[in-house]
Amino acid sequence: MDFKWNKLFIISILEISLVLTSCKKESDTVIYVPTSETITIDSSVAYKEPFRPQFHFSPEKKWMNDPNGMVFYKGTYHLFYQYYPEDIVWGPMHWGHATSTDLIHWKHKKIALFPDKLGLIFSGSAVVDIDNTSGLGTKENPPMIAIFTYHDMEGEKAGKTDYQTQGLAYSLDEGETWAKYEKNPIISNLVLKDFRDPKVFWNETTKIWNMVLVAGDHAKFYTSKNLINWTLESEFGKNIGAHGGVWECPDIFKLKVDDSNEEKWVLLISINPGAPNGGSGTQYFIGDFDGKSFKTTQKDIKWIDNGADNYAGVTYNNAPENKRIFIGWMSNWSYARDTPTKNWRSAMTIPRELSLAKINGDYTLKSVPVEQFQKQRTTAFSKDKITLKANQKTTIDYANLNQSEVQLNAKNENLKLVFFNDVKDSLVINYDEKGKTFAIDRRHSGLVSFEKSFGEKIHHTKTSNIVSETINYQIIMDWSSIEIFLNGGVYSFTEQIFPNKPYTKLIIQSDENQEIKNLTINKIKGVW
Ligand code: FRU
Repeated sequence: MDFKWNKLFIISILEISLVLTSCKKESDTVIYVPTSETITIDSSVAYKEPFRPQFHFSPEKKWMNDPNGMVFYKGTYHLFYQYYPEDIVWGPMHWGHATSTDLIHWKHKKIALFPDKLGLIFSGSAVVDIDNTSGLGTKENPPMIAIFTYHDMEGEKAGKTDYQTQGLAYSLDEGETWAKYEKNPIISNLVLKDFRDPKVFWNETTKIWNMVLVAGDHAKFYTSKNLINWTLESEFGKNIGAHGGVWECPDIFKLKVDDSNEEKWVLLISINPGAPNGGSGTQYFIGDFDGKSFKTTQKDIKWIDNGADNYAGVTYNNAPENKRIFIGWMSNWSYARDTPTKNWRSAMTIPRELSLAKINGDYTLKSVPVEQFQKQRTTAFSKDKITLKANQKTTIDYANLNQSEVQLNAKNENLKLVFFNDVKDSLVINYDEKGKTFAIDRRHSGLVSFEKSFGEKIHHTKTSNIVSETINYQIIMDWSSIEIFLNGGVYSFTEQIFPNKPYTKLIIQSDENQEIKNLTINKIKGVW
């Protein structure tokens, strides 16, 4: 081969490869978002430990599960929760306590309820007895009343079947200190192994106290004039809904259907196991409640959240402006004890406002982060429009996606979002328009092998209620969780994640031509 040709050959190869590289550059875009964000991790400092949520509620230390006793009173949101102060695994249950004036910043309070000779303190609810119907306070100083389940461990060990009863405690200083009602239990067991998690509320229509609790495979409804003596009115659910596991943590409330004057009652029932993506999940029924019994014509099974990690969620009593505010436990009994955190275990979801819509003639419970959450945002990056050719990628390089909110509108076509870091952890979410499914793949999202089922499968959800031409995506990511809301919460997905390092790249792509509008990345201020 003559030298000149050879040189030419080399040049043309170089040219071709230059052209090829520039082609690649032209089609795939990288947008670098400068930020002064620094991430401090220090295992010895509370709220700086690896995986510690920066803007979600988590206990300062030790184990937490269900939210309990959620009540708003005199400007303060009370959040009680299932708490074991001695270890980071489930143990003898207490009620931990925290308060907030905005549902975002929380103050830790003293433990509210301790186990006693009747048993451990399982889940339940709280009300303010404004008219002092119980006689436990005065009209001038109405008592705050907690109604919860006593779980008698000794009884359970002895093989009895009546070891769960309902107890009452009251506070005359707005939840600071509590006394147990001396004639507890207020409802004895009906010889039912599972008999728990009372939700009590004032029924404005019938002017009486209502309670719903669960008994294995169904819910029981009660009424009371004084919160102490209860009358069993009806049962619901034996042959309706999902029954893959025992029923737990019920709630019932009324909502107006969007854009109409119609009102419907929503019954929430958590079940474990039996959720669509494995383990624990919360189903709901839409129907009517006359103060005594709940009826529904619903045939299908509906879930409040289709991710793997939103369980035992219930709503606030007396929230301002008649809002229905929900908080769930961001975990799943399949691996709650195994997640790789050290000083504490688990967190709550972002508080969410619930509403009801009719889509395709079907009632749908929607949830979105409460509006107070907006105050935590500052815009780090925004772009009006990104046009993507099929399989073309836009990568946003941003130092800490694990404390961010991503919002965008995309055509109702395939969209794939990949959260990625330099140790190659990747969390993939994929909306598939043709199959009408939404998928979350956390199999390679970071630490997953602490328990077999955690990273075993891609989680798929049918999204037949996405009927719009463009889809709004709202994605909130904290250090160890992702919460996704589609079209204003028509679908929501909550999942835990444990990336080895924060995700620093968001890759946006599609297998079709796609158009992204109003892409925003917000930094979320920490609250601790
Ligand atoms: C739900 C649950 C409740 C029970 C509590 C015990 O997660 O199993 O049914 O009251 O946890 O901690």
